[in-house]
Amino acid sequence: MRSQVRVVVLSGIVAGLFAFSFNATAAVDVEAAKSLARANNCFKCHGETKEKDGPAYNKVAAKYKGKPDAEAKLIHHVTSGEKAKFPDGHEEDHKNIQGKASPEEIKNLIDWILSL
Ligand code: HEC
Repeated sequence: MRSQVRVVVLSGIVAGLFAFSFNATAAVDVEAAKSLARANNCFKCHGETKEKDGPAYNKVAAKYKGKPDAEAKLIHHVTSGEKAKFPDGHEEDHKNIQGKASPEEIKNLIDWILSL
């Protein structure tokens, strides 16, 4: 009886550890991120490393490096239609993909940008 209880407790701990390490290393799905970006014309204004009308994504990653609210802020940026300032000085609503992809897919896209 006693050893049975121990086995149950131990396997609970092992399962918990697995779940934790899976979460901690949940990798960005680069292909899914890029295809969502392609489907929504993000690359028309942004390059991975090339400045276009919008900042290069690796610059965005550098700007937000170490900022704990980076992910939430950038998710808001692409789902709210907030004003974006263009190099020529004019402002227009930024591309809004709210409802065009699941929250998980949008999060994955932002995590990819932040990983560059
Ligand atoms: C029509 C051009 C255009 C398109 C299309 C576009 N963007 Fe942007 N984006 C901009 C501009 C311009 C800025 C700079 C905004 C500013 O600094 O005010 C920007 C800024 C950003 C930023 C940085 C925001 C910050 O706070 O530094 C991210 C991230 C971003 N865009 C992601 C995306 C994604 C993802 C898509 C596709 C769903 C997308 N953009 C589509 C023009 C565009």
